[in-house]
Amino acid sequence: MFRSGVAKVAAIHLEVPNPCYHLTYQLRQAESKMEADWDRRARGNSRRWSDVDDLKSATSDLQKLLDGIKVRKEATVLEIGVGSGRITKQLANHFEEVYGIDVSNEMIRLAIERLRDFRNVKIDKGDGRDLSIYPNCKFDLVFSTRVFQHLPRRFFLGYLDEVHRVMKPTGMFRFQIFERTAIARIIPWIWLRNMRHLHGRFWADPPDDDTWISRSYSREELTRILEMKGFFEIAMRNYSGYEGDLWVSGRPTPDIVN
Ligand SMILES: C[S@@+](CC[C@H](N)C(=O)[O-])C[C@H]1O[C@@H](n2cnc3c(N)ncnc32)[C@H](O)[C@@H]1O
Repeated sequence: MFRSGVAKVAAIHLEVPNPCYHLTYQLRQAESKMEADWDRRARGNSRRWSDVDDLKSATSDLQKLLDGIKVRKEATVLEIGVGSGRITKQLANHFEEVYGIDVSNEMIRLAIERLRDFRNVKIDKGDGRDLSIYPNCKFDLVFSTRVFQHLPRRFFLGYLDEVHRVMKPTGMFRFQIFERTAIARIIPWIWLRNMRHLHGRFWADPPDDDTWISRSYSREELTRILEMKGFFEIAMRNYSGYEGDLWVSGRPTPDIVN
């Protein structure tokens, strides 16, 4: 309930999860808020989410997604958090069968509108926590960008289990996330305390029921988490040096594939 600044810094440094903090009124709030918050964002600024001039950014994200990996055009692809279908459209041009999932009906409406001419895309409504609508071992490639940083850690970890379950043993998982950089670790936490927008990017996570401010992860932390969740051949690359441009990939470890 009450955590002093010192205790919070110690918990982050030692990476000791505080059970009280994570138990969780806030997580339950997050669960019920995610859909409403993203619906509101889609409705409030639908032009921003559906704008066609984001083609350049989508093309560049697609290049990062495909950089160095060999996936056949016949692949079955899943995108988590399609938004207005910015990259889904690029994927649909590239692959034979594309699935997308999102927690927001309003975002899905924008995506369906953008993708109305494509017969090889199916967009599904998810609960924001799992991929239970898909069977085991269905996808050759699972992809996500600009989504996981908005989720409380526990939801991100839950998605990793699910991604592992729905991937084919030969599959590839690639996602973008915010990187918690080394320089950020030496900036005094106290200085950032009141700068909420910088919290997740540099230091402490925002509250779990915040569906916007980015959480960030160090490379070591991501490697540990992904290994724990059964991924191997983990690779990371930051294309621009900007914290938000860390792209991570991994493959399901063969012996524990479902
Ligand atoms: C910033 S937009 C990014 C959209 C798209 N990936 C892109 O790069 O253009 C974040 C999207 O993630 C979706 N989202 C947020 N939380 C989610 C969750 N827990 N599960 C699935 N989708 C989620 C939102 O509804 C929104 O469409």
